[in-house]
Amino acid sequence: MQCSWKAVLLLALASIAIQYTAIRTFTAKPFQMCHVPNPLNCGLGQETDSFDRLCDEYPYFMYNISRKTHILILATTRSGSSFIGQLFNQHSDVFYLFEPLYHVQTTLIPRLSHSKNTADRRVMLGASRDLLRSLYDCDLYFLESYIKPQPVNHTTDKLFRRGASKALCSPPVCDAFQPSEVNIEEGDCIKKCAALNMTLARHSCRERRHVAIKIVRVPEINDLRALVEDPRLNLKIIQLVRDPRGILASRIETFRDTYRLWRIWRVTGRKPYNLDISQLTVVCEDFLNSVSTGLSRPAWLKGKYMVVRYEDLARNPLKKTKEIYEYLGMSMDSNVIRWIQTNTRGSNELSAKHKYGTVRDSAANAESWRLKLSYDMVDYTQTVCKQILNQLGYRMVESPEELKNLSLTVVEERSFVPFL
Ligand SMILES: *[C@@H]1O[C@H](CO)[C@@H](O)[C@H](O)[C@H]1NC(C)=O
Ligand SMILES: *[C@@H]1O[C@H](CO)[C@@H](O)[C@H](O)[C@H]1NC(C)=O
Ligand SMILES: *[C@@H]1O[C@H](CO)[C@@H](O)[C@H](O)[C@H]1NC(C)=O
Ligand SMILES: *[C@@H]1O[C@H](CO)[C@@H](O)[C@H](O)[C@H]1NC(C)=O
Repeated sequence: MQCSWKAVLLLALASIAIQYTAIRTFTAKPFQMCHVPNPLNCGLGQETDSFDRLCDEYPYFMYNISRKTHILILATTRSGSSFIGQLFNQHSDVFYLFEPLYHVQTTLIPRLSHSKNTADRRVMLGASRDLLRSLYDCDLYFLESYIKPQPVNHTTDKLFRRGASKALCSPPVCDAFQPSEVNIEEGDCIKKCAALNMTLARHSCRERRHVAIKIVRVPEINDLRALVEDPRLNLKIIQLVRDPRGILASRIETFRDTYRLWRIWRVTGRKPYNLDISQLTVVCEDFLNSVSTGLSRPAWLKGKYMVVRYEDLARNPLKKTKEIYEYLGMSMDSNVIRWIQTNTRGSNELSAKHKYGTVRDSAANAESWRLKLSYDMVDYTQTVCKQILNQLGYRMVESPEELKNLSLTVVEERSFVPFL
């Protein structure tokens, strides 16, 4: 009875859990304890951290496991995740979703982007894993309970970044664009397609052979262990990493309010005393936890984990994309190749228009942080993130001259072979 004992304790501890449970009861599925015929999912005493292992109810899966690949892009904001997402979004046999966990977060933890409260975090992760399971099973109705306002008649115009998912802008969901179009503008999709019919989205998902989901709201790989080990899924994780100095520079430009103090540092040359350094340390800690786990090759990740450095992808998109598809055991389709060809030599002028877009000169962009951060800031980042920089092969710069001398590369040649 360990499962239910834990459930009671956790529910009592975490006030948000009550909200979460309330949401769960809206989904008209019967409550069942531990109906999955796998003892691992019943929490045999170890790994108590995992909400999933409480053997809570979850949707029953009917699909044929051998058929689908469930691709999960584990990333963080401003790490090039839109770019890598496109490598799947463009594939005509992939149903791609752009950050569905946004809705979980805004429902469960409004306002707090990175709650440090352990109970909050646990509930958020548990809910996230549940949602991912359902989405990989094409159960898009499950997502509705997190969308505000709640969809009526399975129709909504509030799905976050709907236009970033080609499958949701083309037949059978919407007739405005053809699946062969490689550059559908997000805004055009919203304008030309009627409100999203979730039933049609479900059909679209079922028609395609694979499902790919990009997430930036799960800190690290260990948080996904329960999904990786779930026998009903065929999960393949692609962990996207990027030089933390590049992430910082990009966030300072993009999230102007949240990273205001960093801008002040850059402009005044003095580090503000009240700078929130967790905005940087969290990135490095999460990368370090994930990458250390992944590269130590634990049995549970065998065949299911690949690290991709954004800089490698940006420098040599076609080659890297081929490696990724090889790891997945999938064939790359011509739409993907065409997308790479039309989008990786764009001008910087374009990238200015697309703040979150992917149309840009990818290689130049990957190292532009060197011109945007002051040496002080770089030096500070290098101190805080030393270990992960080393592990990922990002060289430290030792002086302001080295920083600005772009003929000195800071990205070492390093091959991260997938763990097969
Ligand atoms: C699963 O799908 C494969 C390929 O489509 C098919 O050959 C196989 O018969 C299916 N298995 C079951 C149990 O439906
Ligand atoms: C939902 O569908 C029902 C039955 O078709 C209809 O009566 C109702 O007006 C619809 N609601 C909305 C908000 O479209
Ligand atoms: C959504 O699509 C389904 C399947 O085609 C259809 O039956 C349903 O009426 C549509 N819903 C709305 C609100 O148009
Ligand atoms: C930049 O680095 C290159 C390669 O080490 C070096 O040859 C060159 O002199 C440096 N340029 C400046 C301006 O320091």
